[in-house]
Amino acid sequence: MKKLTQADFEERRAILAGEMGLNSIAVIATSPVAMRNRDADYKYRADSSFFYLTGFAEPEAVAVIETFATREEGYSFSLFCRERDRDMEIWNGYRAGIDGAIEDFDADEAYAIDLLDEEILPKLQNKEKLFYRIGHDAAFDARVATWIKEANGETRRGTSAPAQLIQLDRIIDEMRLIKTPEELELMQIASDISAEAHTKAMQSVKPDMMEYALEAELNYIFGKNGCVPSYNSIVGGGENGCILHYVENDKLLKDGDLVLIDAACEYQFYASDITRTFPVNGKFSPEQKALYNVVLDAQIAAIDAVRIGNSYKEPHNVAVRILVQGLLDLGIMQGDLDEIITSERFRQFYMHGTGHWLGMDVHDVGSYKVDGEWRPYEEGMVVTVEPGLYIAPDDETVDAKWRGIGIRIEDDVVATKKGPLVLTKNVVKTVEDIEALMANS
Ligand code: GLY
Ligand code: MN
Ligand code: MN
Repeated sequence: MKKLTQADFEERRAILAGEMGLNSIAVIATSPVAMRNRDADYKYRADSSFFYLTGFAEPEAVAVIETFATREEGYSFSLFCRERDRDMEIWNGYRAGIDGAIEDFDADEAYAIDLLDEEILPKLQNKEKLFYRIGHDAAFDARVATWIKEANGETRRGTSAPAQLIQLDRIIDEMRLIKTPEELELMQIASDISAEAHTKAMQSVKPDMMEYALEAELNYIFGKNGCVPSYNSIVGGGENGCILHYVENDKLLKDGDLVLIDAACEYQFYASDITRTFPVNGKFSPEQKALYNVVLDAQIAAIDAVRIGNSYKEPHNVAVRILVQGLLDLGIMQGDLDEIITSERFRQFYMHGTGHWLGMDVHDVGSYKVDGEWRPYEEGMVVTVEPGLYIAPDDETVDAKWRGIGIRIEDDVVATKKGPLVLTKNVVKTVEDIEALMANS
């Protein structure tokens, strides 16, 4: 099983320490456990940025990175985590504990999480800058404020709290935005498994199947490959495909309708994000095919615009122009191409953006604008390309034959020196290829 190594996490901590400068401290907490109902919790998923720096997936953990007065002293990594506890481990599973934090996660120092308030104070005192991810957890924010107050309370003894509090997300988010070859390998694996799941869905669908039964086909492929969905799966038959975040997936799939599936998995904390739209009975109707090909043309052209140096918005601009021209050609919209684009009248049928950063989080971190301008693509950025067209079932401005058709096609694309690299190419998307695959299943 392909995984990142401790050397990868160590390298990230070293980069962060370099960015922090001398005599500084960074505090990064993982996510709290989320309750589902009463005493049943959701399966735990560590915070992405915390895992990015530590490789540590247990709950109740805090990483502390310190730099010192001189560069020669390097940096230190302290991990606060749950202690080993035989009873708790019998009930709830294995813990690395203090020894494991040092031996398996390369911590220079490790402490029981219960000692955090006590042990953090001497580390904070006399540091110049505190880097902290403000705004993720109000309870933890309040705790950090208490530490600062307490550290300042010691000033008469010649110590003080850091004078500067800096938003740590800015630094980590920029690091996470550019993917290393090792990260891209994991994203390729996630994409391959998700592509296999979509292929299985195309092969399995039949009229009168329930949407959730089709979702189960996807979940089987994710699960047997050691993956979990990277977001709630959307399996929308017919007009449900027009609801952008439809996740009920509890209706019947009807003969003659399309089904839109936006579903993908994460592998070793790295996400993929795929949408395919295909006919429940294996054959596109003339209207479905005509609209589908407009979206596909827009998507292929938009993918081609994911090139180093192009603005982040270029794929969207390319997609919108092709979608609007297609709507005009099919008589679904009337008027002037440029006017429809400038006035954004196309939002009646295309109301979302064409993509987002992808990485450890499905809507990944990293700013989209720099100095007020859409930033250019750089090598190693990964973006989704996901144009769509949605004709609302009650839209009386269009001929009835188009109503209730919702189509989106989504792939994951890396900006590389050789041009766009499509991670999710293993699942078919032309009308001909989809119909051929479904006919042979
Ligand atoms: N699956 C979420 C999205 O496409 O943004
Ligand atoms: Mn997406
Ligand atoms: Mn998606």
